[in-house]
Amino acid sequence: MTLVFDYLVIGSGLAGLSFSLYAAEYGKVCIVTKKSLYDSNTYYAQGGIACVIKDENECDDYSKHIEDTLKAGSYLNNREVVEMVVKEGYERVKDLIKWGVNFDKKDKKKFDLHKEGGHSCPRVLHIKDVTGKEIIKVLANKVLTHKNITVFQNHYAIDLITQHHLGYEIKRGMENIECYGAYVFDTNTSLIKKILARITVVCTGGIGNIYLVTTNPEIATGDGIAMCYRAKAECENMEFIQFHPTAFYYPFKRPALLITEALRGAGAELKTKNGYYFMKDYSVDAELSTRDIVARRIDMILKKTGDEYVLLDATKVGKDKILKNFPNIYRELLKFGINMTKDPIPVCPAAHYLCGGIKTNKNGKTTINFLYAIGECASTGLHGANRLASNSLLESIVFAHKAFQDSLNIINKASINNKIPNWNEEGTIYPKEMVLIKSYFTELQLIMTNYVGIIKSNERLNLALDKIMELAKKTEEIYKKSKISPQLLELRNAISVAYLIVTFAIRRKENIGLHYNIDNE
Ligand code: SIN
Repeated sequence: MTLVFDYLVIGSGLAGLSFSLYAAEYGKVCIVTKKSLYDSNTYYAQGGIACVIKDENECDDYSKHIEDTLKAGSYLNNREVVEMVVKEGYERVKDLIKWGVNFDKKDKKKFDLHKEGGHSCPRVLHIKDVTGKEIIKVLANKVLTHKNITVFQNHYAIDLITQHHLGYEIKRGMENIECYGAYVFDTNTSLIKKILARITVVCTGGIGNIYLVTTNPEIATGDGIAMCYRAKAECENMEFIQFHPTAFYYPFKRPALLITEALRGAGAELKTKNGYYFMKDYSVDAELSTRDIVARRIDMILKKTGDEYVLLDATKVGKDKILKNFPNIYRELLKFGINMTKDPIPVCPAAHYLCGGIKTNKNGKTTINFLYAIGECASTGLHGANRLASNSLLESIVFAHKAFQDSLNIINKASINNKIPNWNEEGTIYPKEMVLIKSYFTELQLIMTNYVGIIKSNERLNLALDKIMELAKKTEEIYKKSKISPQLLELRNAISVAYLIVTFAIRRKENIGLHYNIDNE
């Protein structure tokens, strides 16, 4: 089946939904999402959106947010991009408000701004501790009722379509690669749709699910990054995996319950199981140091003591504030017998966010023509070597708007390519059993968790690479002869992303931001 749209948007977090709402004012948009509109990393974002609101927040100004972002990123960020995102932030936040998002206010007029690690003042807009969920609810409702937007849920993008599918040889680095849309697997019917579009936008989120402990939902398997890489787009900074310092420790709970950094902003402190408050010895900003520093410190303590968790003591925050600002975390922890107004919370670091990804310019355009990447899957230059807390939703909405505006300059040059063949599944069969695919995935998660964690070594990275190459070979053999299934697509994508992370980590010879290798000391 062939379908034709002006815009094909792959992914349905904040980046995908907001881009679609901007683009639907111009033309016909198709959103493809592999589960429901409510399965995305955005949905799980608790903290909020960092934003300078000049008239309301005397303490803040652009230069402070710019400096905080650069410092968190160890100055590996692209300054021009940082300035642009910070300065455009409030305009885009106003778009969200116009669409119906209601950020918490502390009185009738002023926003209630939270403080998180690495921020020199409170500047995080939020909706209690469920900011992402509330944003998605509002935007999903809008896209589902928009006459110019078609939403395909339970649809897996298999591959981006380029000249490769017309029989031409494509190499990374070539300037004239063009994207014409994507082949998409409809899990309801098992049919493969060919969706052609003038502009394709990849907004597939992160990669957390390639680790055993992650705050990300199961969908976070790096599909967009793997697809773009296969289509010969450039990727960068893949070694900068951010581990959130405080995920609730509960073995086998996936995703791990995030304990928002805003709780530390409100006064919660970290201590060892023996009751020692350790962050003050390590950094002047203590609990509110940037995530790379806090997560690494916790990791070192866990390795030294052999403990599985440290404790986050939120009792000083006070019951009233906890119930008002963190009701979701409070309720969730109660289910596990923890009353956070009285009991310390067992926490450990968990894979949370990929700071690198598909390389884009300052308009979100990838190195392939007519192809944009926005949101977590993209490497825009904003985050450098470590993302400042709550800058990710900000990046998503600013780049959604930028990419849409930029697309208007090129959409008329893009034509629908009628020569693209249908997906060819000749000679493929249904895998006899899925257990192999499942066990390869678990093997990959173990490799990444054991060898490519917060603190790395050359030996572990090389071992990981060998094992990943072996898995890649076995998976390709299955892929060539099998009919498409979501599990197989995700395994293949996750392996590609793991390969990129490890090879980038091997190449980086200095310890900076989130990248820490004991052999570089
Ligand atoms: C948090 O609330 O701590 C997570 C927000 C983020 O990742 O920026």
